[in-house]
Amino acid sequence: MLLKISSKALVKFILLLVLLSPSTFQTEAKHETNLIIAICKKTPNYALCLSTLKSNPNSSRADVAGLGYIVVETVKAKSTAGLQTIVKLSRSSPVLKRKLSECWQKYDAILNDFVPEAEQGPPKFAVDGMKGVAEVTTDCIKDFQGLEAPLPTINQLVHDLSLVAASIISNLL
Ligand SMILES: *[C@@H]1O[C@H](CO)[C@@H](O)[C@H](O)[C@H]1NC(C)=O
Repeated sequence: MLLKISSKALVKFILLLVLLSPSTFQTEAKHETNLIIAICKKTPNYALCLSTLKSNPNSSRADVAGLGYIVVETVKAKSTAGLQTIVKLSRSSPVLKRKLSECWQKYDAILNDFVPEAEQGPPKFAVDGMKGVAEVTTDCIKDFQGLEAPLPTINQLVHDLSLVAASIISNLL
């Protein structure tokens, strides 16, 4: 009886060792990377999707919804940077300020409407919110194409990221 119990305990112990061994973690990490690759392949910008997700350590443990959320948060961070750039440019030039006012409003809408919609809403709302971001940034891209960096770069990045986010979240519909 004692032998039976201890062999059972031994099996449990070995099982625990196997579960905790580095190779298991590697397999898990590989599985997660495969998920990221599969998800990113379905988006309109594979390279941007992959670099965005791989640069966030939370991606390795995230499911599809979690990956979508990570890209939404990246859209938020880049939009905040975009708004700060617009404020700075507006202060430096009154002419530019008038030209920037529409784009400024777009970024306000992104940060106050579209991103919260994507963060809090069900997947359908999140997809709509991210598509909304892509739509409103299109005008900013057109209006400031010739302008010195960083605004044109940020406009394009926010636009492309929002379409990646919409594509990832649409897997949940
Ligand atoms: C990872 O997730 C945690 C918990 O949700 C969050 O607080 C943290 O900011 C995330 N890290 C990054 C780099 O996004």
